[in-house]
Amino acid sequence: MRKLILTVLAALSVAGVSQTALAHEGPALQKPGFSFEGVFGHYDQAALKRGFQVFHEVCSNCHGMRLVAYRNLKEIGLTEDEAKAVAAERQIQDGPNDEGAMFMRPGRLSDHYIPPFANDNAARANNNGALPPDLSLIAKAREGGPNYVYSLLLGFDEAAPEGHTVPDGMFYNAYFPGGNIGMPPQIMDDLVTYADGTKATKEQLAHDVVSLLNWAAEPELDARKTLGLHVMIFLTVLTALFYALKVQIWKDVH
Ligand code: HEC
Repeated sequence: MRKLILTVLAALSVAGVSQTALAHEGPALQKPGFSFEGVFGHYDQAALKRGFQVFHEVCSNCHGMRLVAYRNLKEIGLTEDEAKAVAAERQIQDGPNDEGAMFMRPGRLSDHYIPPFANDNAARANNNGALPPDLSLIAKAREGGPNYVYSLLLGFDEAAPEGHTVPDGMFYNAYFPGGNIGMPPQIMDDLVTYADGTKATKEQLAHDVVSLLNWAAEPELDARKTLGLHVMIFLTVLTALFYALKVQIWKDVH
């Protein structure tokens, strides 16, 4: 019996150790509180639209968002004409035409967000060898999710600790595994002039672009949570009805 208890305890402590090893490295994540968190959370349309402005004007110089089509931008409040105009800003290869040649044409609503570089090698060549990942799923792909991306974007201010070397062309960021990231700091006050007049503080910019990235990774969140709520209401009503029925059926037996 004693042996069994010891084995169980040993197994538990191993599980505990591996759990700590899996937890997010570096300092505790900053948690700004996003509107889409929690059971009843929903996206804040205005924040998504502002976040897209940040992505489009800044991040998209290096990063793609290939799972979002230009027509999807109507879901976050862009008009059809605005979405068309955004699409037409970049050229995409199409073809072959009647002569069999490939050609370039402006993007249109049915295209997916056109990436800034033709391929990964071009992307690396322009970024000191580091590959800027496609950001479509990043808010889901990292431990800590949106809070990680938020902390990372605002995490460039601190100086590297004593004894930590930052290679040329890299930047210190305590939230990035290993501490050295190939992305230069991006977020600074007034980085963009928001179309809706919101003051573009660092925190606001990071909050908005991370909201947008979460929407890109999970566009069905609003519909899913609304459906969940409706199902709960339906089940509650159904339970009440069945209870009333049960009382009715058994009332003569007592
Ligand atoms: C000048 C180019 C450039 C711009 C502009 C840029 N990034 Fe990056 N980003 C990079 C590179 C390069 C990497 C890869 C870094 C590495 O692997 O060391 C990266 C990596 C990332 C990562 C991944 C971190 C991880 O855990 O792997 C995120 C998230 C990110 N960028 C978000 C953004 C956001 C949001 C913006 C806009 C506010 C932005 N980036 C603008 C170049 C850029």
